[in-house]
Amino acid sequence: MRIIKAKDYADVSLKAAGLLAAQVMTKPDSVLGLATGSSPIGLYDRLIGWYQEGLLDFSGIETFNLDEYLGIERTNDQSYYYFMHEHLFDHVNLPKDKTHVLNGRAEDPEAECRAYDDAIRARGGIDLQLLGLGHDGHIAFNEPADNFPDGTHIQGLDPRTIEANARFFASEDDVPKQALTMGIGMIMRARKIVLVVNGADKADAVAACVNGPVTPSVPGSILQFHPDCTIIGDEAALSKL
Ligand code: GLP
Repeated sequence: MRIIKAKDYADVSLKAAGLLAAQVMTKPDSVLGLATGSSPIGLYDRLIGWYQEGLLDFSGIETFNLDEYLGIERTNDQSYYYFMHEHLFDHVNLPKDKTHVLNGRAEDPEAECRAYDDAIRARGGIDLQLLGLGHDGHIAFNEPADNFPDGTHIQGLDPRTIEANARFFASEDDVPKQALTMGIGMIMRARKIVLVVNGADKADAVAACVNGPVTPSVPGSILQFHPDCTIIGDEAALSKL
């Protein structure tokens, strides 16, 4: 694991955007794994800015998002589909048919999961996977469990995750209780991983992932076994390392 200490959120975003931009420039037909949540918004803003300045070209890039709430409409402004369009897809020249987000309203969610894994494999796997980190150490929506799930699957959300995500919904009751998420196996097969994290409330989760034992009760701890994983955090998030 490579740990990069940034000053603050803006600095985390700048440094992480730099790594994504380097990937896009050095391999213009890259497959990017993308994340939602508040952590990556700043880096998406940077990428949009560089695109508008003519420094980046996304025309050959394909993207696969990590997760989506089960049962949510894509038109719902809390869906991750909506989030990605609002924060990135609508502002850069990514071909719209090359941006993949799991469909939370799929008639057969299990089939949706299998098709998603097949599509990623058909494209040769993920070159660079962007990640955030949940307070309980979850990555994507892989919650603490007894094992590390391999493929895309349906996941029940932990009360702490529901509580953390309630800030985006009208009330905690409105937060979906299940999600579709890429599995740990697929994430670990990405050739590069960049995890962005900020804030003192994530310091325990970061310490558990970096210094704790590798265990499915802290899903992000598996990243210790990845050959090319970079964690970019602000001082507060890295304060317990
Ligand atoms: C959600 C997402 C994760 C994200 C996490 C942290 O649970 N499924 O992919 O990493 O929230 O979100 P935030 O960056 O808002 O703290």
